[in-house]
Amino acid sequence: MYRSVSRALFGAALLSLSVALHAQTTLDYVQTPATQAASAAYDDGYSIFQPVLAQEAIVATEEAHATEAALAVLQEGGNVIDAAVTIGFTLAVTLPNAGNLGGGGFMLYHDAQDQQTYAIDFREVAPKGAHKDLFLDQEGNVIDGRSLYSHYAVGVPGTVAGLMDAYERWGSLPLERLLAPAIELAEQGFEVSPTLASALERTAERMGQWPATKEIFWRDGQPLQAGDTLTQADLAHSLRLIAEQGQDAFYRGPIADAIVKEMQDHQGAITREDLEEYKVILREPTVGQYRGYDIATMPPPSSGGVHILQILNMAEHWPLQDWGHNSAQTIHHLAEAMKFAYADRSTFLGDPDFVDIPLEGLLSKTYAAELVEKINPEQATPAEQIGAGNPSDHESEQTTHYSILDNQGNAVSVTYTLNTNFGSGIVVPGTGILLNNEMDDFSAKPGVANAYGLIGGEANAVEAGKRPLSSMTPTIVFADGAPMLVTGSPGGARIITTVLQTLINALDFDMNPAQSAAAPRFHHQWLPDELRIELGLSADTIDRLQARGHEVSIKPTMGRTQTVQKRQDQLQGYSDPRNPDGLTLGY
Ligand code: DON
Repeated sequence: MYRSVSRALFGAALLSLSVALHAQTTLDYVQTPATQAASAAYDDGYSIFQPVLAQEAIVATEEAHATEAALAVLQEGGNVIDAAVTIGFTLAVTLPNAGNLGGGGFMLYHDAQDQQTYAIDFREVAPKGAHKDLFLDQEGNVIDGRSLYSHYAVGVPGTVAGLMDAYERWGSLPLERLLAPAIELAEQGFEVSPTLASALERTAERMGQWPATKEIFWRDGQPLQAGDTLTQADLAHSLRLIAEQGQDAFYRGPIADAIVKEMQDHQGAITREDLEEYKVILREPTVGQYRGYDIATMPPPSSGGVHILQILNMAEHWPLQDWGHNSAQTIHHLAEAMKFAYADRSTFLGDPDFVDIPLEGLLSKTYAAELVEKINPEQATPAEQIGAGNPSDHESEQTTHYSILDNQGNAVSVTYTLNTNFGSGIVVPGTGILLNNEMDDFSAKPGVANAYGLIGGEANAVEAGKRPLSSMTPTIVFADGAPMLVTGSPGGARIITTVLQTLINALDFDMNPAQSAAAPRFHHQWLPDELRIELGLSADTIDRLQARGHEVSIKPTMGRTQTVQKRQDQLQGYSDPRNPDGLTLGY
């Protein structure tokens, strides 16, 4: 009954909306009953996008084997951390371009029993041999490719320590059980998906130069094709060692030996001491409030949490719901807010153990109000200060996120990565382990952009023992003290704006996770001065944005969210349709 009445209202709203658009001759924003009704009409009954539903627990990852393995763990009585550990190790096998043992990342965990949220930082660390000029030649110019595709590109990996640390603190099932699916999939193999095959194809040139890498990912002189079976015997062996010896196998035992040998053979910087001294850091999450919700997110060395909260603090000044989802008015204001946030990012953000970040100021509502004053509601402000960016055409989406929520209110949100597709592309011989190229997330030189077009300064300069600045933003939103939304995404610089829009879609527009994931996204990172959008915005909207001075460019999709939510007394979840390999399951 309710649905049919509101459907009729929605039809009328659409009709008058088209009249309003037609009649509008200036760029002045005119609030009409039609635009109001249109933006309020996100009742699930209208959506062609329906989430996965569950009662007890729900898991969203970018790869089906990993989701299935985690679901089995939960159904056997494992907790959300057990499931997260299983996914972390399984994705190292089944999503080798992003899942990893040789990379790093962040985990946010909410423990319903002690009502605490923990931020686990297992980001890579610059080896002791690293220094400010590591990626510069004698003239002080950046050496092409060195921070991405050489042994110097590799940061000391944190993933094994991070997953094991979480397991040792909060895990419940035996470790061997949690690693069993990963070991089995590595040993027996699994079918290469078209998505994985295409990633292997795109990176053939640089992966192909490393014999140990080719041995695993190539057959008959070319990268594995869709439908081929990928087996990884050495990786299975490494996983077994970890199941038996814990993280010591990686940081002190046989895997450490192999990593150190590989570094010595190729003049890489990582030493045995670097591996032995790697430490997971348990941090306080960065927290904020948005329209009555509490948000816990990743603190520095992630920049994501700080800037999402900074942008939300600005957005709170604006009636987004009235303005309409993805309307020119909404996009203009959010894009301007994004510019301010990314400009601050480039100056102030870095590893908090090395630099003083004015966190309180960046997160304050007063500072946000000041920035809002600077935003011209009619016109884009050019981002012309400080030298222009130099973004490469890096469109890889090769980080991965997974989210888990149970009906007790326990939640895990993990984003981890090798950085770009397959990281450095270097497999440590005998281990099956791909090494990251996270050193590129440092600022190689002030004003020179990294693979994601991000510019940094002194705060993010290379330094021994320092963690490179990240955009990865695992996030948990709370309503009345209980987790109501768990999300995150890959996407390099675009992670921040992808997660931001996922929060706004849910909190301002009450979209279900499927609707929210499917909605077109936009992104501005200050430099380059470009409003990047996905396909799917109307020509009228684009016209209006251009008329306000935005350099609009339609580019490939951004981000791939994995969102689980407590909504309408159900667990709901959805794996972003931008990656056909993702899977959400619950029970
Ligand atoms: O930590 C970061 O911000 C980057 N290394 C993440 C890379 C990424 O998301 C790649 N996928 N697009």
